[in-house]
Amino acid sequence: MTARKIIIDTDPGQDDAVAILLALASPEEIDLLGITAVAGNVPLPLTEKNARIICELAGRTDIKVFAGCDAPLSRPLVTAEHVHGKTGLDGPQMADPTMPLQDQHAVDFIIQTLRDEPSGTVTLVPIGPLTNIATAFQRAPDIIPRVQEIVLMGGAYFEVGNITPTAEFNIYVDPEAAKIVFDAGVPLVVMSLDVTHKALTTKARIDAFRAMGTKVGDMVAAWTDFFERFDMEKYGSEGAPLHDPCTVAYLIDPSLFTGRLINVEIETGSELTLGMTVADWWGITDRPKNALFIGDIDAERFYKLLAERLARL
Ligand code: BDR
Ligand code: CA
Repeated sequence: MTARKIIIDTDPGQDDAVAILLALASPEEIDLLGITAVAGNVPLPLTEKNARIICELAGRTDIKVFAGCDAPLSRPLVTAEHVHGKTGLDGPQMADPTMPLQDQHAVDFIIQTLRDEPSGTVTLVPIGPLTNIATAFQRAPDIIPRVQEIVLMGGAYFEVGNITPTAEFNIYVDPEAAKIVFDAGVPLVVMSLDVTHKALTTKARIDAFRAMGTKVGDMVAAWTDFFERFDMEKYGSEGAPLHDPCTVAYLIDPSLFTGRLINVEIETGSELTLGMTVADWWGITDRPKNALFIGDIDAERFYKLLAERLARL
């Protein structure tokens, strides 16, 4: 099996961090060409810095990290410090990174990579608002048919929303960007809240990270401990969803997931339901099927994969 070339587009975020670590721990399946940071959970200066902190934690100062868009296409930025803390990576104290940020803008990196690599060989993995990806598609439409697949975290149908009653955070922050990406005609895999809310941390699952006895294991346990507190209070659940790592886990082992190929449209007009992913789960319309919308996960095997892979770092 040749490793799949991917770009992770991210706004770290503790769950983004676990997604990046999972990719770095899986070189047989994943060839990480670069990490592009976007404004989302926290502003861009923090997300690009956090991306470098995560690479350094994994001892991978060779990974290229690029800073991208600092605000949504046409709206002010909405952030999520109430979930992730002031730094975006709250939990244990982390030293500032020493590895450099690349000079190139993230959007230019995405465009150049898709032009340079053979067509159909690069997969985009957006786990934050879709501003960087949409900007690249707008600026260089020639790259759109060259994308192998987009595997993103965002949206919801049965779970409806987490940042508003009807919208998931990544889509809500930049709905215009999401619309561009969902309408682009690129094969799309959508890790919605419907599935990520089934990927819950539990005490035993966090203990398994801690039991690794490594720096990465301790850090992931501490991050998930921190991240948990918000969702446990909100949902009264046993733990918190690890949203973003579902995307990378899908690329490693798609048999962990099930979903349906359906039509998904993005609401950009209504104030009340802005950023809603209107998912035709029941096939009620004739609208074109543009997304494999994931709804279920084998959570036991997902956490087993995470523990196994992160132990390698
Ligand atoms: C998404 O929003 C962010 O807070 C998480 O990192 C994840 O990407 C979940 O709605
Ligand atoms: Ca994220």
